[in-house]
Amino acid sequence: PEFRHPEFRHFMLKEIYEQPDVVRACLEKYLNLDWTQNRTSESPIHLGLPASFYNGLAEIHIVACGTSLHASLVGQYWLEQLAGIPTRVRYASEFPDHPFPLTPNTLTIAVTQSGETADTLKALTFEQQRRSQLTPACRPRLLGLTNQPNSTLQQRVDHILHAPSEQEVGVAATKSFVAQLIVFYTLALDLACRRQMLSSDRLDILLREVERLPEKISQILAATDAIAQLAKELVDTQDFIFLARGINYPIALEGALKLKETSYIHAEGYAAGEFLHGPIAILDEQVTVVAIAMPGQVYDKTLANLQKVKSRGARLIAITTPVNSEAAALFDSLLPIPDVDELLSPILTVIPLQLLAYYITVYRGLDVDRPRGLTKSLSAE
Ligand code: G6P
Repeated sequence: PEFRHPEFRHFMLKEIYEQPDVVRACLEKYLNLDWTQNRTSESPIHLGLPASFYNGLAEIHIVACGTSLHASLVGQYWLEQLAGIPTRVRYASEFPDHPFPLTPNTLTIAVTQSGETADTLKALTFEQQRRSQLTPACRPRLLGLTNQPNSTLQQRVDHILHAPSEQEVGVAATKSFVAQLIVFYTLALDLACRRQMLSSDRLDILLREVERLPEKISQILAATDAIAQLAKELVDTQDFIFLARGINYPIALEGALKLKETSYIHAEGYAAGEFLHGPIAILDEQVTVVAIAMPGQVYDKTLANLQKVKSRGARLIAITTPVNSEAAALFDSLLPIPDVDELLSPILTVIPLQLLAYYITVYRGLDVDRPRGLTKSLSAE
């Protein structure tokens, strides 16, 4: 494809801007919006999976690479905290050498944007083969979550969940990630409803919140100029640390990956509490810390961690809702996010991080759509 888009300078920017529509498309596909008024089924989610899929499900194992792994880590949080299902995530490339124990009634999910990543397909084949001779409870139950349903992945699994995001040209995954998040969220909500893990009031809130996401993403996109301005100031920074706790920890990893992949700047993501156990030693005035500090159960703990970061002299940028003056005094810059339930916040907090990576890369004069030495997916190990 031609790597210049008429309205947007690059595909990556165009694809970031398509995210409100991608979220809408995912919700239209899987969410019954009339359900709250007319509760005719067990769950407001219709994933098109047979009843046998849900029978006796006791544990979930997930294999993935790169950005799809980060989506899986957010998915793990939802599957455990909403649906109460023990869930484990492993790099697909590590899985055959370090597989999970052979637990019964276990669903294995392979998550891959392209459906073609060799490491992920190999992990699936490994799981299929080692389980196929076992007792019925331990037989393979395989689900693929992908943005390309007609890929090799579908030949290797029993069921496919399609994350509709249309073709993504930019090598750095953006809209495909957000689509995967929505599918994970609907899967977790579906399982939570069927297992009666949610009060009807809580479910109503979680449904209303997800419906408002496209509008809230648009609000973040409308304030892109401030992010571009900040990117200009950061263009020569050599080291970035991304910090968050709880459900936003995988977004810290994803923010660092986006920046590394596109701009080649050194960037690492850490769980904010864990960062204090050693890595904090690297901080000085030359390092920029980007912290996700969304109101919710980890907010106070995150601010306490960031006080320590600030005392080392690092420049501190916050991804947060407009905050009280005490918290605002802590940060050198603030990238505001609309109010949102903490559970859904990763779908919003990733957007400014995508834009930051995009603008820093463009201001460094690099080809943001085709980073050096990277391909959209690795079809060799
Ligand atoms: C490649 C790309 C990454 C991508 C990963 C997984 O390494 O450079 O950006 O996240 O593959 O791709 P998949 O298609 O399996 O999600």
